[in-house]
Amino acid sequence: MNNFTYYIPTKIYFGKGQISHLAELADYGKNVLLVYGGGSIKKNGIYDSAMNILKEAGLDVFELGGVHPNPRISSVREGVKICKENQVDMVLAVGGGSSIDCAKVIAAGALYDGDAWDLVKNRRKIQGALPIFAVLTMAATGSEMNIHAVITDPDKNEKWGTGAQCMMPTMSICDPEYSYTLPAEQTAAGVADIMSHTFENYFNGVKGAFLQSRFAESVLKTCIKYGPIALEHPDDYEARANIMWAATNAINGLLNNGAGVAWSVHPMGHEISAFYDVTHGVSLSILTPHWMRFALRDETVDKFVEYGVNVWGLDPSGDKMDIANKAIDCTYDFFVNKLHLPATLREVGVKDESHFDMMARKAARKCIGSYVQILEPDVISIYRAAM
Ligand code: NZQ
Ligand code: ZN
Repeated sequence: MNNFTYYIPTKIYFGKGQISHLAELADYGKNVLLVYGGGSIKKNGIYDSAMNILKEAGLDVFELGGVHPNPRISSVREGVKICKENQVDMVLAVGGGSSIDCAKVIAAGALYDGDAWDLVKNRRKIQGALPIFAVLTMAATGSEMNIHAVITDPDKNEKWGTGAQCMMPTMSICDPEYSYTLPAEQTAAGVADIMSHTFENYFNGVKGAFLQSRFAESVLKTCIKYGPIALEHPDDYEARANIMWAATNAINGLLNNGAGVAWSVHPMGHEISAFYDVTHGVSLSILTPHWMRFALRDETVDKFVEYGVNVWGLDPSGDKMDIANKAIDCTYDFFVNKLHLPATLREVGVKDESHFDMMARKAARKCIGSYVQILEPDVISIYRAAM
């Protein structure tokens, strides 16, 4: 196990009715920028609940709605402008990862003199951030308890991750009931995203990180048990609660501290979203089984066997390659037949290979240092296999 520092100052209020704690924002100033997406929070009443609490607490609320899934730099720029013009003291996201990520970069952009895209392209330019708060409405990205934010410039077909310790939310409210209204495809995509974060951490090649692997297997088993239940019964509290807490813990350092490597499937998936605006979790569920087949080889077979036996309950006796391949089959079957996610890139609008060269060039650069080496031709092969 490698050395690490683990420091997460985010206060999590988890469970039913925890939104009442939004009143605590009054301790951080007077003016709050509320950041949200395309309107789901107005339909399901979360917007009204939040507004009532903020107003009663004496806060002045400025608003930035319409944040797009795969949030765009244009929304960030708009938010930064509102902050600078109105002496905003803090930023509150109510929504999924897109709203939270957008809020994080707005919070950093508010304290930066140049264009916020600089902060996306180069995290070293982040000099500080306004306090960031979140009310989570879907389980997926873990943005509620991590430093990361992923922003897209659709004009340039670019999607980049950034992050800094100052972008860690000060407080996040995670009420599983708020995810009851999530459409089935988003529930499934969220579960696939959680599993992908876990795979990115689990397949690491670091010796002796036994505990991290067992944590990861627990997160995977939680997704496998509760994902289909949440799809069938969207208001099953136990399912939503377990998935929500799994999401937070899949990417808050618990699984990768001491065992971290560069990620593999996310860089390839981000390029799919940058060029074709595909839902993040869907890009991952399509690519993951193909990346697994690529990564499976004599040197990695033991880890895939460990995965198959501990997560899918496969029989450990017999040929190792067979067990490993069965584990990959189980993964594919779960995404496609249990979560009902698309199986191919073609189904999500990737009609031909015209952008593959450029996508592969960018993705391969971000994969340097991952579990198995991925070069540009490998990325293209994985994309091709996923067509
Ligand atoms: O826009 P609204 O109206 O809110 O609707 C959203 C959106 O259409 C809807 N939704 C969310 N909660 C809902 C709901 N609809 C009904 N009821 C609810 N309770 O779901 C759709 C997707 O929302 P979004 O926020 O885009 O989803 P997600 O949480 O999956 O975030 C995806 C973004 O996060 C980035 C992704 O790349 C993508 O841009 N990621 C962020 C990470 C991080 N910060 O650590 C890591 C991830 O790997 C990921 O890259
Ligand atoms: Zn992800």
